[in-house]
Amino acid sequence: MTEIKPYWKNYIDGAWVDGGAGRIDVINPGTGEKLAEHALADAADVDRAVMAARRVHLSGALSDLRPVERGRMVQAMGRYLLDRIDEIAPVLTLEQGKPLWEAKIEIKGAARYFEYYGNQAETVEGRSIPLGKGYFDFTTYEPFGVSAQIIPWNYPVEMTARSLSAGLATGNACVIKTPEMTPLTNAWFAHAAEAVGLPAGAVNIMCGFGHEAGAALSAHPYVNQVVFTGSVPTGIAIATAAAQNVVPCVLELGGKSAAIVHDDADLAAFETDVRRGIYFNAGQVCSAMSRVLVHDSIHDALVERMVGVARSLTVKPGIEQPEFGPTMGAMVSERQRDRAFGMIGDAVAAGATIAAGGRKPNIPGAFLEPTVLTDVTPDMTIANEEVFGPVVSVMKFSTDAEAIKIANGTPYGLVGGVFTRDLDRATHAARHIRAGQVFVNEWFAGGVETPFGGYGKSGYGREKGREALWNYVQTKNVAIKLKG
Ligand code: NAI
Ligand code: MG
Repeated sequence: MTEIKPYWKNYIDGAWVDGGAGRIDVINPGTGEKLAEHALADAADVDRAVMAARRVHLSGALSDLRPVERGRMVQAMGRYLLDRIDEIAPVLTLEQGKPLWEAKIEIKGAARYFEYYGNQAETVEGRSIPLGKGYFDFTTYEPFGVSAQIIPWNYPVEMTARSLSAGLATGNACVIKTPEMTPLTNAWFAHAAEAVGLPAGAVNIMCGFGHEAGAALSAHPYVNQVVFTGSVPTGIAIATAAAQNVVPCVLELGGKSAAIVHDDADLAAFETDVRRGIYFNAGQVCSAMSRVLVHDSIHDALVERMVGVARSLTVKPGIEQPEFGPTMGAMVSERQRDRAFGMIGDAVAAGATIAAGGRKPNIPGAFLEPTVLTDVTPDMTIANEEVFGPVVSVMKFSTDAEAIKIANGTPYGLVGGVFTRDLDRATHAARHIRAGQVFVNEWFAGGVETPFGGYGKSGYGREKGREALWNYVQTKNVAIKLKG
């Protein structure tokens, strides 16, 4: 059994400190029992962290470095995490609920961000703009200064890695507000920052309530840029606070993403897409495949396969799942589980049928069976609102145009997918699906290199890929009048 330290502190200006708002209990959703306590930051703690980050920024300690030097430190942070994967993964599983093998995938994914953005540090180059004989003009990209990053609980390690690596690579000092439910694993970023020689104040990590520390951070007048992943209402609150200070945000706000499965699709291969698309992390994934739109003629055959996938998964505490296999862990909390469970009940009341799962297993902890809902129609709540759990809604279509209309029929637009052997049909769908990312014949195709972000209520700005670098820099144009 993994030994968990009973009390974890915040990391502000290079010191481990108690929180002005006291402590919060961190619960293991795999058992429902208390795991540890974490310090809770208040507005005064947030202020100290932001002012420390600002001091680092103004000192030039990050921004004056030759980018390759910053890049090497960023890469070394990734290696630090990988070297400690066996230490971090059980803590992630115990605080978040995911299988131990998924926790290891998440930590490797986090390390990959540091590798990628460490590499990109020295590629942020300006250009020279011709203005005729009398001038020399060039652009440069400067860091905003203090980057505030507000992190969700579904992938606490990977989401922090995503913004912290790009923020540091471009020379920003960072203040991170970790999620109330899963704050523990973020401590390793502070250790990593120290280990690679970043100055005190360059990376600040604190847990606090969203309405308290989160709100104070997003409204702080010395924050220069905000990155947020989470719910739509919180995204709106954060963007509103940032607007008061006239600073930009990146908002990544979830979705209700649809896979369109045509009659010529490879149905056997699609089983893997179901497995990964809706049951990884118990469906608590913003880009989850939460809707499957299937051609009438193959509906029953596809549902049979999807039911087979759902029933093949054993649900049990993540810590008992060291190796990749047909297993799923707990959801993050009983509250989130009950919310998803309630949405299943409402869907059934509205006319949907439970083809697989739909129950809370009779064991302690925040578990929900892998669920497939059929007889769902586009007007139902379940077809429009994010469940954020292991629940997929199946709907029928008869024409390509109808499929695209249903796919585009929610306020979201994060990702989408099309499954067909017909290139014209795939290309047409890719062009018409209103989403920031379209998968053809493999859900989650892509990686850290490919830009990710939403249309519509799924947010704005892009994370991952080279696009994300531009969130953290501002353009300066220098025009020089030459003599003679
Ligand atoms: P949330 O959006 O409220 O929480 C995410 C983060 O925002 C947390 O760190 C929280 O402390 C912080 N926060 C909350 N209120 C804030 C405020 N006023 N100012 C600044 N920061 C604030 O999400 P919540 O309530 O935990 O989950 C509700 C639903 O949101 C989920 O069921 C799911 O549908 C969606 N969600 C989507 C995620 C995604 O990956 N896109 C991640 C987490 C939740
Ligand atoms: Mg927890």
